[in-house]
Amino acid sequence: MNQKIVILTGAGISAESGIPTFRDSGGLWENEPVNIVATPEGFEAEPKRVITFYDNLRKSVQKCEPNAAHRAIAKLEEKFGDDFLLITQNVDDLHQRAGSKRVIPMHGELLKVRCFNDHVIPCKENQPEKCPQCGAKMRPHIVWFGEVPLEMERIQEALMQCNLFAYIGTSGVVYPAAGFRQIAKRAGARVVCLNLERVANGDEFIQGKAGDIVPKWVDSLNG
Ligand code: APR
Repeated sequence: MNQKIVILTGAGISAESGIPTFRDSGGLWENEPVNIVATPEGFEAEPKRVITFYDNLRKSVQKCEPNAAHRAIAKLEEKFGDDFLLITQNVDDLHQRAGSKRVIPMHGELLKVRCFNDHVIPCKENQPEKCPQCGAKMRPHIVWFGEVPLEMERIQEALMQCNLFAYIGTSGVVYPAAGFRQIAKRAGARVVCLNLERVANGDEFIQGKAGDIVPKWVDSLNG
């Protein structure tokens, strides 16, 4: 049977590119109240503050470059083609810029905004006040706490069919992504964690910085 690979990434894979993670010291959630900048209720209560937060993040992410880990994952996709799927919780575009194509950004995309009629439009700088297509109010194209992540059906199907599942640079505390390792395991997949810290017992664990360990791990799969 073909090797079917699903990879899940989190903020740790972009840390070496200069994008702060969420929960490490100096992380994004240390400086910003999560209940304001990452919930629909926060957006309703303080829209200007939320918009400014994402406008600033959008500008700073564009100054960052993909690192060796992003590039290694893109290389893996080249080899495995349709037997490969990348799911990322990250809202930056570093995987895409490294060349990944079969990628599901399940928590949305910083470089897009959407209106309340669900028109999604690219956005590189400040969020426009009104939708250029229909004039409705706009919001960041980000999945906030309490909202349903994108493309869950496709994700579920890929997890049920994979025989190798790896999660990289994620603390494994935010569901549903935190539960993917269990779905893959129940489906009979080999499960590997590549991270600075062990996040769950019972999985193969490769410890280190993503930029060091991911390229080596990818080479070991190719070889
Ligand atoms: N290499 C590998 N792992 C790293 C590195 C690195 N250079 N730097 C940090 N890490 C690890 C940390 O040890 C931690 O386990 O990456 C993980 C980052 O965890 P979080 O900050 O919680 O990020 P993530 O798991 O992506 O968060 C999930 O939470 O707030 C939401 O929507 C947001 O998508 C995000 C979700």
